[in-house]
Amino acid sequence: MQIRRCSIVLLEPREEVGFDLDNLLSGGNGLNRTHRWVALAPHLEAAVDVSAGERELLGRLSPTDWVDTKALAGDAETVRQLLKSGLVVARGKRHAAHRERDERLRETQWHPLAATFHAFTRWSTLDTVQGMRDSGTETPEQMRAAFGPPPVAAPSRGEASSSVPLPRAEPTAFDQLLGRRVTCRNFDAARPLPRALFAQLLQRVFSVQAQVHACEDTVFVKKTSPSGGGLHPVEAYLLVQNVEDVAPGLYHYHALDHALEPLPMPALPLRGFAMQAVAHQHWFADAHVLVVLAPRFDRTFWKYRQHAKAYRVIALEAGHLSQTLYLSATEAGLGAFITGAINEVPIERAFGLDPVRDGAMAVCGFGWRGEAMETTELDPVGVIWETMAAAD
Ligand SMILES: Cc1cc2nc3c(=O)[nH]c(=O)nc-3n(C[C@H](O)[C@H](O)[C@H](O)COP(=O)(O)O)c2cc1C
Repeated sequence: MQIRRCSIVLLEPREEVGFDLDNLLSGGNGLNRTHRWVALAPHLEAAVDVSAGERELLGRLSPTDWVDTKALAGDAETVRQLLKSGLVVARGKRHAAHRERDERLRETQWHPLAATFHAFTRWSTLDTVQGMRDSGTETPEQMRAAFGPPPVAAPSRGEASSSVPLPRAEPTAFDQLLGRRVTCRNFDAARPLPRALFAQLLQRVFSVQAQVHACEDTVFVKKTSPSGGGLHPVEAYLLVQNVEDVAPGLYHYHALDHALEPLPMPALPLRGFAMQAVAHQHWFADAHVLVVLAPRFDRTFWKYRQHAKAYRVIALEAGHLSQTLYLSATEAGLGAFITGAINEVPIERAFGLDPVRDGAMAVCGFGWRGEAMETTELDPVGVIWETMAAAD
């Protein structure tokens, strides 16, 4: 049988600390520490425990050249273990599953550290709200008590005497728009969003505005946000909850056609899936539309091959799209949000994404604001909330 090492694997010496009653009763500190080596291979779903022999053999195998297992007769049992875990892949039907996933990873041209980071920072079932409650860090006062003060908000550099004061400009309509941009945590779930407004936002933020055909099959596109290499890898997958004349459900937004492509319903009811997607941040789950920002890594990595900066570029692009969405929503009189606290695994499952090629980077959303601020927003001068109260 022909085998080779998987394309990317990082080894981590891991310490786990648990509570140990026996240790406490016998005069210890009540903590039990265990040490093990784990292999982090992005084509696999989970970290894999590896023995000293497995680590040593991984170091001897090439990720590119195939070797016949006859040449490794003395290591037969270690080879068997590595094949079983998927850290080593083999030719032939029996081992196709791990090999094909590894091949997809190779074809996508990931930088090894970015691939590992992306694969192992995905969540499945996290409830961030419960997490903050459990750790007693829900409010700024609790955070201050637990962590001490944060680093200052605006640091100074150099001598104060050398500081150069700048003139302050008179605000324009654009400044007013920027000033009204406040992350919305209070949506009015009961008020339907007009279809035309919904379509206008998608057109402004996610649609292709113009194309450059470098060759027949090599197309760069222009959108209202910038994108590394003009590639625009970030797709918009929608969870529509309350838009007039649009059936609630999951969709892919086609950026060239400016059209919705319906997808199968998720396993959970939509509101439940929305909660799961945003890691149980109920203040976002009522948004009329949630937008999963899902980069196609293979499109950016086509140009930036195994590039140290490419993953950062994609994350920055998601941020640009989000800012354009915030401003477009604000201009339309709507609220918007972004969250990075998302359960990627159920999102990938529901929208049919393969995290090796494409995956969820963040979730944004937009819709009508509610009438009362039940969840805190950062609106210190009352640009949104005092204006709304005055309008009543
Ligand atoms: C990348 C990113 C991730 C964020 N994630 C969350 C989040 O998980 N939950 C949340 O309530 N707000 C989240 N926010 C919103 C921030 O909390 C918000 O921007 C901040 O409080 C400042 O308020 P403002 O946007 O109204 O100026 C996120 C913002 C950014 C840019």
